[in-house]
Amino acid sequence: MTKEPCYEVARVPVERTLALRREVLRPHLALEEAVLPGDDDPATVAFAALAEDGAVLSVARVGPERAPFAVEAVDRAGLPEWRLRGMATRADLRGRGIGSAVLDAVIAHVAAEGGGLLWCNARVPAVGLYRRAGFLTWGEEWVEPVIGPHVVMWREVAPGAPPAVPRSGASPAPGTTVSG
Ligand SMILES: CC(C)(COP(=O)(O)OP(=O)(O)OC[C@H]1O[C@@H](n2cnc3c(N)ncnc32)[C@H](O)[C@@H]1OP(=O)(O)O)[C@@H](O)C(=O)NCCC(=O)NCCS
Repeated sequence: MTKEPCYEVARVPVERTLALRREVLRPHLALEEAVLPGDDDPATVAFAALAEDGAVLSVARVGPERAPFAVEAVDRAGLPEWRLRGMATRADLRGRGIGSAVLDAVIAHVAAEGGGLLWCNARVPAVGLYRRAGFLTWGEEWVEPVIGPHVVMWREVAPGAPPAVPRSGASPAPGTTVSG
């Protein structure tokens, strides 16, 4: 029987997420090329699922960035806008809710910072993950060279609110240790 990982989701320096980000999302690039614009913005925050021995199992980062698309359903005047990037789980640990736990931490951070419009350019195979976290698609899919099909996804995050979509499994808050 496979042993389920024991991990906690915690806020970490962006640098701690780079190796897994590169390995999963940009394997064709050098480590330093996995750095994203805005990583050094003091308002950019990274989260990671960390094993008991400190190994990084899943990562994401979120920072202020205006959405380059129109969401007719939302009055964006004065609404803070946040972009989620660099979402990646170790290949051998996918499908166990770890990525969702990291995404919950991102959403909780945006809520704690006053809420707003949270968006990302989602890889199409990951659309289900974001949908379950309350995201909607916007516009048409497009194909990024080398990487593959993408679609814009977004959701509103209410200030101070916990994630709006309840999950069936255990979903840890940042800093909570979870034994899966
Ligand atoms: C997308 C990604 C980050 C998701 O990470 P993850 O840890 O596998 O995420 P989760 O386990 O929370 O969810 C993934 C799937 O597992 C399922 N799942 C969640 N919890 C589960 C559990 N406890 N037991 C079994 N399955 C579970 C979910 O239903 C989900 O299925 P779906 O995506 O087909 O709808 C990961 O697949 C990845 O790194 N992919 C490659 C890079 C990538 O595409 N990143 C996103 C860029 S936008």
